[in-house]
Amino acid sequence: MVFWRVKPLDKILETAEKKSLKRQLGPVQLTLLGIGAVIGTGIFVLTAEAGQKAGPGMMLAFVIAAVVCALAALAYSEIASMIPVSGSAYTYSYGVFGELIAWVVGWALGLEYGIGAATVCVGWAGYVNGLLNHSTVFGLVQPGALALPQFLQAGPMSGGTFNLLAFLIAFVVTILLVIGTSKSAKVNAVLVAIKIAALTVFIAIAVPAVQSPNFEPFLPTGWFASGGGIGVLGAAASIFFAYVGFDAVSTAAEETKNPNRNIPIGLIGSLIVCTIFYLLVGYGAVGAVGAQPLIGADGFAIDPSSPEMAAACANSQALVCSKEPLAHVLRQIGFPEIGNWIGIAAGLALPSVILMMMFGQTRIFFTMSRDGLLPAVLSKVHPNFHTPHVITVLTGIVVAICGALLPVGRLADTSNSGTLLAFAMVSIGVLVLRRTQPSRPRPFRTPLAWIVCPLATLGCVILFYNLSPFAKTFFLGWAVLGLIIYAFYGYKRSQLAEGNAG
Ligand code: ALA
Repeated sequence: MVFWRVKPLDKILETAEKKSLKRQLGPVQLTLLGIGAVIGTGIFVLTAEAGQKAGPGMMLAFVIAAVVCALAALAYSEIASMIPVSGSAYTYSYGVFGELIAWVVGWALGLEYGIGAATVCVGWAGYVNGLLNHSTVFGLVQPGALALPQFLQAGPMSGGTFNLLAFLIAFVVTILLVIGTSKSAKVNAVLVAIKIAALTVFIAIAVPAVQSPNFEPFLPTGWFASGGGIGVLGAAASIFFAYVGFDAVSTAAEETKNPNRNIPIGLIGSLIVCTIFYLLVGYGAVGAVGAQPLIGADGFAIDPSSPEMAAACANSQALVCSKEPLAHVLRQIGFPEIGNWIGIAAGLALPSVILMMMFGQTRIFFTMSRDGLLPAVLSKVHPNFHTPHVITVLTGIVVAICGALLPVGRLADTSNSGTLLAFAMVSIGVLVLRRTQPSRPRPFRTPLAWIVCPLATLGCVILFYNLSPFAKTFFLGWAVLGLIIYAFYGYKRSQLAEGNAG
């Protein structure tokens, strides 16, 4: 029987009351937190990856991913407002399905947030490297004079050896997080404004430059490939990353004032704003310069995260080759200076996404540690900063190493594998709770739950199938490792195990 040790919801809520994180986030801060977590590498960088997988059809990929996310967000909002505590889908699963599934979900969230943070580190490095490669600092230096050596500009599968900037940004963000949520959230608000401004400028310049021939052929790789990874659905599975992060809002529930009202506002509000921007940016990028995939010797689109792609891109100006596609588009259509400014904006703003992803990661493992499933040292709170500093530093180290060595597309897909599992479990969880606890107060109710939740689950399954084979294999290996750790550690040390403090 897999559904053992279900943690009573009242007990979950009680634990949250006892806890030590301060309630300091309001609805505006929370929506900004959501936008800060959502707009990032997905739209700024993965547009190129999606173009390689689907050509102009990536526009459809944006829509498909948005629909799956919107459905999942509706489910998330009901459960997050019912159980407003740290830990997101992990905690919800504990209260609905019991400890084993909760562990699997919490462990998968480690991929979502940890690898997600690394993804954004690589995306950030792409823009900052692009800036260093192109900027003349107002005519003071030759173009390229500031560039890092090629081997430090990317990881080993993307035409370099060690992505130095991705490595460094992970450390800077770790320090911000150790210093404290409140200070970090204020920095976040400023960076969100910069990000929105950059996307608005991009849309204002690129959309008028749209030419209809750039949309032909619209579906050069078709809808999907067997085994996943390519076609419109493959692109949707990757670009899904662009929408991930709104659930980070719910991981901040324990630090939120009046969470029953503010969590749903933060989740749905941030998703709506982001979707509108993405559709306009995708339309502008494809329409202004085209987005046809590079084709390999076998006649098929090349895997965008492969050394073969890095080689094919060596002297190419194609959008699908760019590590900083939005800046690239503006340079291509005659606005190189503004392209550089987009690079500066991305360079300033993407760290807010890294911050939110790492914040989510630390709070999940913090909660798992508090439940006895991970060592207690991970839930130590710093006496002055009131932040879980041990898990924050450990997370920072792993994120830095992954960012330095792996390509952005592989990281994004791997992160998505964890997210899709969590979203599917939350959607199912909503329905289970409607049956098992019909009278528990629900400040937010998912509309048409018996249609919305099954559709959300189905959407997650379809996107998961269309992830790249690398991501699916990695997910499997990660899950097996997690189950081994649970069997030998968490199962015995759990707060719910017999003989342990409840
Ligand atoms: N949605 C976030 C991004 O695109 C994670 O960077």
